Amino acid sequence: MSDAVLEKDMSAYWDRAGKVWVEQQALLDRLYAPIAKVVVDRADLRAGERVLDIGCGAGATTFEAAWRVGPQGLAVGADISGALLQLARQRAGEAGLEGVDFVQADAQTHVFDPPFDAIISRFGVMFFPDPFAAFENLRRAVRPGGRLVFASWRSAEDNAIAGVPLEAAAPFLPSVPVFETDAPGRFGLADPDRTRTILEAGGWRNVRIEPLDDPTPVSFDELLTMSLRVGPLNPALANQDEAVREKVREAVTRALEPYVKDGVARMNSACWLVSAEG
Ligand SMILES: C[S@@+](CC[C@H](N)C(=O)[O-])C[C@H]1O[C@@H](n2cnc3c(N)ncnc32)[C@H](O)[C@@H]1O
Repeated sequence: MSDAVLEKDMSAYWDRAGKVWVEQQALLDRLYAPIAKVVVDRADLRAGERVLDIGCGAGATTFEAAWRVGPQGLAVGADISGALLQLARQRAGEAGLEGVDFVQADAQTHVFDPPFDAIISRFGVMFFPDPFAAFENLRRAVRPGGRLVFASWRSAEDNAIAGVPLEAAAPFLPSVPVFETDAPGRFGLADPDRTRTILEAGGWRNVRIEPLDDPTPVSFDELLTMSLRVGPLNPALANQDEAVREKVREAVTRALEPYVKDGVARMNSACWLVSAEG
């Protein structure tokens, strides 16, 4: 079984997968807040600018950008998932944020309007079935010299939280997902050479790809939630009976114990910080 997202109807897939992100929004927001900040800092957003957040999910990165560009600017979150956009819109309303908009769109093909000063993304650009078309389309969405900044995952080997639970669960499941680095999926942009090729083919210049490590601590329960609920084991467990789930839970718990000290896990999120100019 591949971890790649290869369904024909991507928005139906992300409406399903997005429900887990909706359910775990508070944990994901806390865990990945430092990454949103690094992305937005690197984008060097100024008051009054227009910024587009691709694969915005529940909107955390869009909101961070909106604070920077202020009410005279515009922060647009684009996502293919209706479920996540509904939550993003609700949160924007509750926060009383001005200058924020959300659009349901497939970033590969949507004609974005108006031209943006910057495009940002936190983990929202690795899932395109045709990344060449997608990044060329996104380049057309920025003004000449506009910035692109995104965070994507480094390899599964660099991210123990991805590989350790799968290895522990494998003996109890008919198959576990295999991570691919040249197919749409969480590790779809893990290979920096491939990412550079895709961006340059799409007309992006001055491509920089740097390691970004985030050791934000999580509790053991949160680590288990990330492993069993948010991570790739979730679909693999969906059709299993309770006895199998319990065995997997025990095995994953045992495998993760060495990563926890005094109830706190420091599992590095090993990412790439990618930037370029249009
Ligand atoms: C891993 S989640 C990240 C969400 C958000 N950026 C965050 O960090 O909380 C990936 C997001 O990309 C969105 N996505 C996937 N393919 C997309 C596409 N072709 N166009 C727009 N959004 C897409 C998904 O719906 C999902 O919200």
